[in-house]
Amino acid sequence: MTIDYQEKIPNNVNLSEDRRLQRALERWLPGYQQWWHEQGPADSEAMEVYLRTAISVEAGGWANYGYVRMPDYRWGIFLARPEPDRRVNFGKHKGEPAWQEVPGEYRSELRRLIVTQGDTEPASVEQQRHLGKTCPSLYDLRNLFQVNVEEGRHLWAMVYLLHGFFGRDGREEAEAMLERHSGDPDKPRILNAFNEKTTDWLSFFMFTYFTDRDGKYQLASLAESGFDPLSRTCRFMLTEEAHHMFVGESGIGRVVQRTCEAMNAHRNDDPRSHGVIDLPTIQKYLNLHFSASVDLFGQELSTNAANYFTMGLKGRFQETRIDDDHRLADATYTVPEVKDGAIALVEAPALTAVNECLRDDYIADCQRGVDKWNRIIRDAGIEVTLTLPHRAFNRKIGVCAGLEATPDGRIIAAAEWESGRADWLPSAPDQSYVQSLMAAVTEPGKMANWIAAPAKGINGNPIAFEYVRLN
Ligand SMILES: [Fe+2]
Ligand SMILES: [Fe+2]
Repeated sequence: MTIDYQEKIPNNVNLSEDRRLQRALERWLPGYQQWWHEQGPADSEAMEVYLRTAISVEAGGWANYGYVRMPDYRWGIFLARPEPDRRVNFGKHKGEPAWQEVPGEYRSELRRLIVTQGDTEPASVEQQRHLGKTCPSLYDLRNLFQVNVEEGRHLWAMVYLLHGFFGRDGREEAEAMLERHSGDPDKPRILNAFNEKTTDWLSFFMFTYFTDRDGKYQLASLAESGFDPLSRTCRFMLTEEAHHMFVGESGIGRVVQRTCEAMNAHRNDDPRSHGVIDLPTIQKYLNLHFSASVDLFGQELSTNAANYFTMGLKGRFQETRIDDDHRLADATYTVPEVKDGAIALVEAPALTAVNECLRDDYIADCQRGVDKWNRIIRDAGIEVTLTLPHRAFNRKIGVCAGLEATPDGRIIAAAEWESGRADWLPSAPDQSYVQSLMAAVTEPGKMANWIAAPAKGINGNPIAFEYVRLN
């Protein structure tokens, strides 16, 4: 499974033996490069960035590190090693050999799943386009760019499937990936959370913690797919995704740590007077990004999700490790429902509740990072606890979308929501305060005042390593 870097498009799928596909992807390449130039990280093209590039897909040791100008990054197509004798592991085809070609009857569903996933990848690059100008350190700038090039590669992963397995309409979908843009009034990205701008680094860390984690759960459920090429590409994407979530988790941890240091050094002062981000503001950003990310899992009860499951296209998180029949014909699952102005838990058919099942796994996973941040606060001797808001809070999709709820899940009237809102979500003054802190720090090893240094550097290098040569 070595990757061929002699090729114009690095790959481990023997692209040179499939002339038709190779030509199709080579035709798509200039449009992609143009998109990177216009929509990718602003003012970055002369910079040399200490990036990792995939050199194999084996566990451990797949990455090579070195300075790269981002337009020269070797984007390519990397699939995890095939599993011998892999089967469809759930749904009505359970036990049949996994599909190496698209099953004709599921073609449009599969294409829709791939397009929806693929669209988020370039969207996040677009959202983060201007962040580099206000990086808190060269270390962070490098991490931002690493995330960006890998999201670009994730687009390649989905475009490979579209070109390779969906013929003409796949080609058209691949073109459309470069035509929609985040926040574009005429051609927006498909999912709403990907049309918001990421304007500051606190938001970026929240996004990589909460929204990239949604990505992890979507990819993990697609990695269970009976369509083997999708499964294999998602499995390799997940190894890259782990770094994005690390950037978020450690980034928020460093913000929290720096705030606690300033609070302890100046016990009676407003932390903002010392140029750090006060914990209540961090909580509000957390509330916002968590609630937007739980929306991405869709409706609690969904016929589409049930169909994808039954067809064997999209499974649950770690499907094969779940101890049940993997068909869900008679099983039930607990889902929230709004009854008489309160949220009640009811039993629903597990098959239509697979979105909710994935969301539950996601929420439990989110809590782990929050626990870590709380340990930093506790170790500093400060009595504040960050919490995930209730799943009913600030929802735009699902049974809670039509109601107002406090972060602890109490359903309230619209007037109470209006008066409480500024305590629960970033207000305009909060946003402009956070924005006021955003100024580029580009001296190697130096950090902006509002964030602590990381515990260690990248790939064994010191924190003061020149992770980006600005040129
Ligand atoms: Fe991604
Ligand atoms: Fe990501």
